Amino acid sequence: MAEKIIIFDTTLRDGEQCPGASMNLREKMEVARQLQRLNVDVIEAGFPVISDGDFEAVERIAKEIRGPIIAGLARCVPQDIDAAGAAIKAADNRGRIHVFLATSKIHREFKLKKAHDEIVRLATEAVRRAKSYVTDVEFSPEDGSRTEPEFLAKVVEAAISAGATTVNIPDTVGYAVPEQYGALIKYLKDNVHGIDDAIISAHCHNDLGLAVANSIAAIRNGARQIEGTINGIGERAGNVALEEVVMALKTRPDYYGSFYTEVHTQEIVKTSRLVSRMSGLMVARSKAIVGENAFAHSAGIHQDGILKHRETYEIMNPHDVGWGETELPLTKHSGRHALVSRLEHLGYNLNDEEIGQVFARFKEIGDKKKFVYDDDLNALVDDSMGMTKDTWNLDYINVTTGTSTVPTATVRLRRGDVVLQDSAPGNGAVDAAMKTIDRILHQKAELVEYHVIATTGGKDAVGEVTIKCDFGGGQLVTGKGASTDVIEASARAYLNAVNRVAGVSQVYNSAPQLIDTVP
Ligand code: KIV
Ligand code: ZN
Repeated sequence: MAEKIIIFDTTLRDGEQCPGASMNLREKMEVARQLQRLNVDVIEAGFPVISDGDFEAVERIAKEIRGPIIAGLARCVPQDIDAAGAAIKAADNRGRIHVFLATSKIHREFKLKKAHDEIVRLATEAVRRAKSYVTDVEFSPEDGSRTEPEFLAKVVEAAISAGATTVNIPDTVGYAVPEQYGALIKYLKDNVHGIDDAIISAHCHNDLGLAVANSIAAIRNGARQIEGTINGIGERAGNVALEEVVMALKTRPDYYGSFYTEVHTQEIVKTSRLVSRMSGLMVARSKAIVGENAFAHSAGIHQDGILKHRETYEIMNPHDVGWGETELPLTKHSGRHALVSRLEHLGYNLNDEEIGQVFARFKEIGDKKKFVYDDDLNALVDDSMGMTKDTWNLDYINVTTGTSTVPTATVRLRRGDVVLQDSAPGNGAVDAAMKTIDRILHQKAELVEYHVIATTGGKDAVGEVTIKCDFGGGQLVTGKGASTDVIEASARAYLNAVNRVAGVSQVYNSAPQLIDTVP
């Protein structure tokens, strides 16, 4: 009989940990709702002790998302476990506490400075404490793949006997190779007393590009849960891309037919795009499953083959992962009702005020371009959301530029009743717009990354600008803006980052410092 593989999504925790990917509450909620539609089994919503913002996000997700289990991460420290227990309370019997503690020699000696017995004791106590909040407790020996197998087995056994229902074996630094990682899972299966009382989970990072291969090797050797992120986002080279594992299992029943997932694969592309927009992390065109080119055939021989028989060059049906969904574009004549139903179809859950903002921008864009496509709408939603009377909004921008003139911008900003205007020259039109905003707000930020994409084809396409800025202190802040005019889109993106930085510093100032050791 085929066995189910539990899909544990950590986009909002391990994925969000990646530099510049931090999302605000609204963005995390959009991602969580889409993960619910994707039908993942577990959503790791955050690390509640790390900041008030993380706590609030986990709590809201636990309260609002129905279906998946909601997990909160904690070190093996009472304060962390209590925060996770409180944050996931609203999930009722669908809450999970995920406790972790490093076990490898290098971490024990250099980071924790703890002996074997101490590690076993801390893990046991943490699992017991987590059990006082929920029955569903996961334990992760961090850097598990580099831990001596005998000691790993000992810690895992202790965690299970303390009540852990899932034991996750992280390949924290992406060092494992498939044969070794698969063998380690089998070793635990064969040597840990009580292992059949728990689910074995794989958590693979992609430093050697082996995360999918390692995850599949784990499944073949007894793992029944896979942890990863959408688009493979995460620290360094990222986590395993869940969409790749799911589609490998589905596409190769000849090898993996005895395993299945309950992921709604037609939601994959939509989820990928949402995560990319919300995190500000672009998906490479050639990325498997979700990259723009994943199903594009340009060589004449391939195109000819596809036309004659799709399977000549396509191993998956693009519709199975959500490509090629026909969309009826809106026009400037479309009313609020049509816009709302399109936004609902795209998965947005906006309140009246937010719909009002998007509608106003939609009408503006509709006047400038014939058709407003789904991708244009996605860009407009990103651009309009988070604009309130308490944030700086772009009222007006004018830029003079040319081959023999110094580019100069005039910008008018509005926040509630406060209206400020100024002008500044710059080294190019975008620079002038950003310098003018800096001048108005008496600030200075370093632009670290700048990307612009046309959301759809055609000369009148909406340009979506994504930037990353350092406002000092090395904390990268993402900003997004959209317009048919890329200079305006750039100014909007910059303002979006400026508005976020207030929220981000609020969150980080109130955060207890995350020390990666156990007291
Ligand atoms: O990579 C890792 O070790 C982790 C743990 C917290 C599970 O993300
Ligand atoms: Zn990880």
